[in-house]
Amino acid sequence: MSGTDLSAIESELIAEITAAADLAGIEQVRISALGRKGRVPELMGRLGKMPADERKSFGAAVNQLRDRVTTALETRKGALEGEAMAQRLASERADVTLPVRSGPVAEGRIHPISQVFDEIAEIFADMGFAIAEGPDIETDDLNFTKLNIPPEHPARQMHDTFYLKSPERIARGEAPMLLRTHTSPVQVRTMLSQKPPIRIIVPGRVYRMDSDATHTPMFHQIEGLVIDETTHFGHMKWCLEEFCKAFFEVDEVKMRFRASHFPFTEPSAEVDVGAEAIGKPGKWLEILGCGMVHPKVIEMCGLDPEKYQGWAFGMGLDRIAMLKYGIPDLRDMFNADLRWLRHYGFTSLDVPTLAGGMGGMGG
Ligand code: DAH
Repeated sequence: MSGTDLSAIESELIAEITAAADLAGIEQVRISALGRKGRVPELMGRLGKMPADERKSFGAAVNQLRDRVTTALETRKGALEGEAMAQRLASERADVTLPVRSGPVAEGRIHPISQVFDEIAEIFADMGFAIAEGPDIETDDLNFTKLNIPPEHPARQMHDTFYLKSPERIARGEAPMLLRTHTSPVQVRTMLSQKPPIRIIVPGRVYRMDSDATHTPMFHQIEGLVIDETTHFGHMKWCLEEFCKAFFEVDEVKMRFRASHFPFTEPSAEVDVGAEAIGKPGKWLEILGCGMVHPKVIEMCGLDPEKYQGWAFGMGLDRIAMLKYGIPDLRDMFNADLRWLRHYGFTSLDVPTLAGGMGGMGG
């Protein structure tokens, strides 16, 4: 068709394509050339108004133009993509010889108390124990009376209890609430709410008015309780021995059961382990109190002492954490000193397992 210089249009488009500096630019050229309102569709639009003979040759010429422009666009686009990729590779290049950056997950540390509790839970879970918990604020009845420590019992003085101000309770003639002095009330809660067989361990915070290098007003205990119709002192000895071997990661552990007294067990014992377990031969370390649950406790917890019997133990979590990991001062455990935590803490990826060992890389 006269008046339309297809080769001029083509050169113009090719020049624009060549000049496109980046992928956004080439896309603009594509739209202005081939898009719905672009130059090529516009040329095609003229076909309808042309006489038939002109239409054929003009149509063929526009088709060829469109093909060449399309090819040029694709070639340029491919080249620009290659350039963009090369630029990205250059700017995002990783120097694999640099040391690994640890990042927040690896920076954080697990507190030795949490670590030691996880280790203990793993060991007792393997022996079929479940985990039970109770509140820090407890009633006098559950912390003392139902554990066979009636009012006026001398053991109450030994517990240096923190009492809560409870004017309403006192007005009603009830004993004030208190901060539990041991995890033993969770024994009571469990027996009151669950039918035997019972096999639980109970981690938790406990509170006593006491403060020096080996005592803090808040510390941690872990309680154990087994109740069924036949379990006996021998089962307890075996369980505690297996526990000590697994916890201290030794094949043999020297243990001695010393006769002791707790109001809620009869007979009662305190358990010492030979300090060779922590690399200090010749010494004994006291780690827990234990005994057969007193029939009166079983009865006060709503179970028939003629039918059910069991055993219990309580140990200081902080104490055995200090023993295992060589931590000298108990108070440091609760000072939230980051330097201390970096030194004694554990990495979160280092989960205790029986197969992989408990200790990980802390201490
Ligand atoms: N509750 C005792 C304490 O805090 C520890 C204890 C001893 C717990 C003997 C027990 C046990 O379950 O049987 O000193």
